[in-house]
Amino acid sequence: MTHLNLNKKMAQLALLQRIELASPFQKKLRKIFGRYLFSNFISKHLIGSKKISRNYTILMRNELSTLKKFLSENQNILSIGGGIGGLETLIMKEFQSSNITFVEKNYISKKIKYGWDDINSEGYNNLSLMKDLFLDNNISDSRFKIIDFNRDIFPKKNFDLVISLYSLDYHYDFNIYSDYLKKNTNKNSIIVFDTIRYQYFEKIFEEIEIIKENNNSVHKSKRIACKSLK
Ligand SMILES: C[S@@+](CC[C@H](N)C(=O)[O-])C[C@H]1O[C@@H](n2cnc3c(N)ncnc32)[C@H](O)[C@@H]1O
Repeated sequence: MTHLNLNKKMAQLALLQRIELASPFQKKLRKIFGRYLFSNFISKHLIGSKKISRNYTILMRNELSTLKKFLSENQNILSIGGGIGGLETLIMKEFQSSNITFVEKNYISKKIKYGWDDINSEGYNNLSLMKDLFLDNNISDSRFKIIDFNRDIFPKKNFDLVISLYSLDYHYDFNIYSDYLKKNTNKNSIIVFDTIRYQYFEKIFEEIEIIKENNNSVHKSKRIACKSLK
């Protein structure tokens, strides 16, 4: 099976978004030289894009398998914080009549901190590289729309599926999006995200299912699929 082909700049982003792609040597450098040098130098210059492309594709295929039962043709999908968009590329390739609206940030923080951020200041993406990845994979630009979280007006739409892996309620508060999600989903829409406080969502959704648990990283999380935001 072929892998997604990330150029060096895309590979840098994938590495920043998914620190598990770092080799033990890169992790050691990050520990020694700190977050600033890792975000601005090590992740830019001391990486092999082929290896990252391969491992990133494997990672995204595994993520796709956790979502398979929620995917079908003709869906309107919303991706919140999709990163460089590898998972969504795989979805658009497999479900040829799906379309995806992305909300993301268009900057890379100088010193990326991985963890909860009350003011949601962290960003680690580049929207033009994201678009390039889709076009490089022969996905027509009529099938996706990219919204800059800080600049654009969010579209009014009825989404069947919302996907936010390790972004919404993992790094920043779900409430930032709750009004938008209430207005732009219906009672059958599925909202999937990773959270560190899943019990809270039992109160605000009618239905909730745990589809993955991550106990390996510093903050332990659950991936939940939710229906009907109260
Ligand atoms: C840890 S990365 C995860 C990327 C991707 N979902 C993945 O699983 O590989 C978190 C992403 O959330 C984005 N982000 C941060 N705040 C955001 C916001 N308010 N809305 C949308 N995306 C946001 C960051 O730019 C970053 O790309």
